[in-house]
Amino acid sequence: MQYNPRRTSDQSGDMMATKSKTVKVRIPATTANCGPGFDSLGIACDIYNILELTLYSENYLHIEISGEGTEYIPTDDKNLVWKVIKDLIDITDAPYKGAYIKMHNAIPLSRGLGSSAAAIAGGLSAANYALNEPLDKNGLLKLATSIEGHPDNVAPAIFGGITISFKDADDIRTFSFLPKLALKMIVTVPQFFLSTKKSRKVLPEKVTLKDAAFNISHVAALTAALCTGNAAVLSYAFADKLHQPYRACLIPGMCEVFTAARQAGALGAAISGAGPSLIAFATENEDLIGQAMVQAFAEHNVDSYYMALNIDNTGVCLI
Ligand code: HSE
Repeated sequence: MQYNPRRTSDQSGDMMATKSKTVKVRIPATTANCGPGFDSLGIACDIYNILELTLYSENYLHIEISGEGTEYIPTDDKNLVWKVIKDLIDITDAPYKGAYIKMHNAIPLSRGLGSSAAAIAGGLSAANYALNEPLDKNGLLKLATSIEGHPDNVAPAIFGGITISFKDADDIRTFSFLPKLALKMIVTVPQFFLSTKKSRKVLPEKVTLKDAAFNISHVAALTAALCTGNAAVLSYAFADKLHQPYRACLIPGMCEVFTAARQAGALGAAISGAGPSLIAFATENEDLIGQAMVQAFAEHNVDSYYMALNIDNTGVCLI
């Protein structure tokens, strides 16, 4: 493992702190579950956070944040990006104790678009580049999943595309692909936060065999329809019985927003990740669908806005 440390010297030639090269990465937003693919399916979307990192051998931490959710993100050692960077430094025994971190966030915070996955995938990838890549992408995925608890957001954040992820003994496997049709994602973002923790608390510990079979058949149809570009199959494949019915109580108007999206031409709609954003999938009519979803939320006294997004096929990368 090579860390490529750079030593700086003052004017007298005395050696000062060691710092790493400075790296800048771009991390996509992600939507998870896509209806029936609970904790497995994810898609990288084309809005991005930017993260710049320099590691220092000294105990020094300076964090600058701009963009979405700035006022809610800590700039001390509780910052999630810094915490995961520190994890990678510790795991690789790298000779650094501090960092300069600069972030510009475009991903809405705590809205079901993978803001915490972006912090984890971004922090780990930036540190990995700064340390001359001691881990490959699968190693990053395994570490990121152990921090996040499930792989469905961190996998597309790291690999890009549509990802199917699962646990295989001690490993996390993921498979990334692109659909054979021009899939658009219309994400409607309500003006309230919903933490993943709160949204998982309403889920049952056990589900019936009937509901499990319903989701298995739908997620199989969904992935086959995406791979073959079959819009007719897609139009009934986004249904779910494992998490959305339980989460409806946390998102006012959820079922009506889904109906409005379909009536405006969407192939289907789902909660984006753990919510509260709702996502419609379509091949056309993005603006009509977005406007209909915003209107349906408004009828339940929820302010919202929509974004028409495309799939990001790169995942986190150096810029
Ligand atoms: N699969 C996760 C959930 C996504 O639905 O809780 C949120 O991170």
